[in-house]
Amino acid sequence: MTGVIITGALSGLFFGLAAFPAGAAGDLPGPDLVLTNSASRDHIDLTGAWTYSIDPYRDGLKSFHGNGPGLGHRRYETTDVEAVTRENPTARYEYDMRREKIVTLPGSWINHAPELRHYDGLMWYAREFDAAPEGDERAFLRFGAANYTAHVWFNGEFVGRHDGGFTPFAFEVTDLLEDGENLLVVGVDAQRTDQTVPPPVTDWETYGGLTRPIRLVYTSETFIDEARTWLGRDGRIMAELALDGPGAAGQAVSVTIESLGLTLDGRTDRNGMWQGSIAAPDTLSLWSPDNPTLYDVTFAAGDDTLPERIGFRTIEVRGTDILLNGEPIYLRGISMHEEELGSDPGRIMTEPAIRALLSEIKDGLNGNFVRLAHYPHSELTTRLADEMGLLVWSEIPVYWLIDWNNDDTLAEARMMLAENMMRDMNRASIIIWSVANETPVGDARNSFLRKLIADVRQRDDTRLVSAALLTESTTDNGTMRSWIDDPLADDLDILAVNTYNGWYGGPDLDGVDDIVWEARHEKPMIFSEFGAGALAGFADEEARRKFSESFQADYYRATLAMSENIPFLKGMSPWILKDFRSPRRQHPVYQQGWNRKGLISETGQRKQAFHVLSDFYREMQTAGTTQD
Ligand code: GCU
Repeated sequence: MTGVIITGALSGLFFGLAAFPAGAAGDLPGPDLVLTNSASRDHIDLTGAWTYSIDPYRDGLKSFHGNGPGLGHRRYETTDVEAVTRENPTARYEYDMRREKIVTLPGSWINHAPELRHYDGLMWYAREFDAAPEGDERAFLRFGAANYTAHVWFNGEFVGRHDGGFTPFAFEVTDLLEDGENLLVVGVDAQRTDQTVPPPVTDWETYGGLTRPIRLVYTSETFIDEARTWLGRDGRIMAELALDGPGAAGQAVSVTIESLGLTLDGRTDRNGMWQGSIAAPDTLSLWSPDNPTLYDVTFAAGDDTLPERIGFRTIEVRGTDILLNGEPIYLRGISMHEEELGSDPGRIMTEPAIRALLSEIKDGLNGNFVRLAHYPHSELTTRLADEMGLLVWSEIPVYWLIDWNNDDTLAEARMMLAENMMRDMNRASIIIWSVANETPVGDARNSFLRKLIADVRQRDDTRLVSAALLTESTTDNGTMRSWIDDPLADDLDILAVNTYNGWYGGPDLDGVDDIVWEARHEKPMIFSEFGAGALAGFADEEARRKFSESFQADYYRATLAMSENIPFLKGMSPWILKDFRSPRRQHPVYQQGWNRKGLISETGQRKQAFHVLSDFYREMQTAGTTQD
């Protein structure tokens, strides 16, 4: 079962319906609440000390006969176990969240304690906090992400469940909020099943837990749930709002961009929604990696105002070109997992941690593009990409072997896609929504992915759609030919391929740059992945074995040389910026549980290949082959 239990009328269905087609909502799924830019609202930040309790057999959810959890296991109850057992010595409780171990959240439980290193079961977290609600304001619990399934109780009441490890969700708790002490208990289950997205087997660490900020957000009785503004390809600034609350219908609204001297205003319709547009002023400075101009925008409706920082740009394809603000661009990128630098990461993505990674791309590699793999990364990452000037590929983890025939899996993927898009609709940096990675061609898969692609197009026609595809190849007379033979290619704007010639197969390195890539579609292609493993510090200049820095550097030189022979190749995001944890990588000398295809080690040590790519991008930049 996916999604959440909450109030709120039609919001969530409206947002981003591609450029105002009336009534296109149809069966477009979406969360009931978006809470655009919730961090800017009045809130209690619940970052900090939480107690936790492991529950491998899920006794807190079900009894061993499959009924409701026994009295002694209900970790979500507000019972003060110590006080009760003091009162009644025969009382029996097999938990006490108040006297449990304490950890700092957000962050995965992977390094709460050594024994949790590979734990992917149910974990209970509890947090008490004081609140002083005022007047008729409303209150919402908003989670940045919980990997994978979250069961949430507030002051002993069940408020909802959310499935999906990488997107935000919210529950209204206005009627449950106490003036004084409150208790929030969350059961987070990291277990992956054939139904989940991603499925059980991936090439990255699970990082179970409450991995992103948790807030109690206050709003006025009627508030702006969704707000968006962007530059249309017709040169008009578009805007839309969706209100939530009793006063949503017929409400006066406005969007102001003071520094442009620009205000759009109007009145919401009976569903609390409004759309408007205005010609863009000549003074508008277009957002680009070289000129990441962001404007302060204020959305207003009744007594509610919502600030945002937004860049205006257009992105489109024409033939085999990718056009940013109407000019051809080459995506000088790299792929990245959501894992901070360090030898014992916990997916604790603070601003400094994210800046450290993004500046390695922008300043270290001379890059202008990052593929955030294979799932939606933190909202902070996409906001920093806006600010620092990095174009972004945003992806949902429809990865490898998904249960294509399972309607619940499709519903989960569609909801994840909607939550991701609606969280980041205002991010100028995001130019590509990706719906899949390395999925085997087949009827069930094709229709599953076409449903996702249709959802993207219905919700947002201002960005490009892609997926990381596999390639076909053949070798005749010693020359290898590669091409894309995927029916999905017809449905995508950009054809992205993962290619590992010289590492997972294909010719040896000295044959890689002779590979001929055949264009079978009049569309731009990018390399969404290529890469080779190397243990930092193991140079092996003589033998140049796989897993050595010298081999990795040779591999990059050969693959980059090959890339220069492909006229319709308009970008790349090699695999990968940093060595990352993967349970599939267990070579005792070279890997020790890390995928070593990073250009920097887990602690940030640059490998030889880092400089090969950095030089290649600098030459491209200085040659001005494309605008930035
Ligand atoms: C695949 C996959 C990645 C994986 C990489 C690798 O292409 O998309 O998730 O980590 O290859 O094998 O290193």
